[in-house]
Amino acid sequence: MTILSLHGVTKKFGGLTAVNDVTFSVERGSIHGLIGPNGAGKTTLFSLITGFYRPTAGRVELDGKDVTSLSTSLRARNGLVRTFQGTVLFPEQTVEQNIGNGLLAKASSSWVDWIVESNAYAKSRRDEVERLLVFSRLTDLKHSAARDLSHGQQRVLGIAIALAARPRVLLLDEPFTGMTASEKDRLVEMLREIRKSGTTVVLVEHDMRTVMRLCDVITVLNFGRVLTEGTPEHVRRHPEVMSAYLGTTA
Ligand SMILES: Nc1ncnc2c1ncn2[C@@H]1O[C@H](COP(=O)(O)OP(=O)(O)OP(=O)(O)O)[C@@H](O)[C@H]1O
Ligand SMILES: [Mg+2]
Repeated sequence: MTILSLHGVTKKFGGLTAVNDVTFSVERGSIHGLIGPNGAGKTTLFSLITGFYRPTAGRVELDGKDVTSLSTSLRARNGLVRTFQGTVLFPEQTVEQNIGNGLLAKASSSWVDWIVESNAYAKSRRDEVERLLVFSRLTDLKHSAARDLSHGQQRVLGIAIALAARPRVLLLDEPFTGMTASEKDRLVEMLREIRKSGTTVVLVEHDMRTVMRLCDVITVLNFGRVLTEGTPEHVRRHPEVMSAYLGTTA
């Protein structure tokens, strides 16, 4: 069943069409890869899905509901949560505090909770932070400032912050960049666990080995358009995909 779909989505920046008439659907509970050469429009597409940009044309649907005109925060409350290419954290705050910040965007929390802040609610917040620390294997670092973490650990923390918002669809922009081989293996494991828990993942990633072993379906973008879509095997065998990466397909 489809959870997220794009219908003829186009984004122009002046004379440049960064995303051009893109249509595709993401299956609930899948890991859906979005790949393509530099400048293909992947990050712009994330910004269109999550509401940082409004499309020039087309629409975005979440669970069959048109969300194209909703704000970023409303989309987050509806379960569309992204991480950014490059790390975005509060560097001076501890790991624990950073994850706590993520809870603010939680889809199910109401503003009343934050004003009243009952003991039970504060405890459930602490439990949630603990759960995410364990899941992301950052418990031993919970009192460390985010800036003191390794690059790979900071990226995992970014994902833990996003998970605190309880996404239905988690959009990750190049989460594996700069990770060591063992950090990559651990993140692959984490993403499989996230999928198992029922959360849908949309993954932009340049690391092909990781994309191929992790994704159920892959959409390939080139010059803002969908070049092809299918299983990792289909994409691997598609002759134009390789030439797009080598810069020979217009
Ligand atoms: N805010 C903007 N204003 C003008 N042009 C932009 C803007 N954002 C992106 N672009 C252009 O749109 C195109 C798509 O960029 P985008 O960042 O979406 O690519 P990408 O697929 O994420 O690339 P990469 O793999 O390098 O991250 C590029 O030509 C880029 O220069
Ligand atoms: Mg990008």
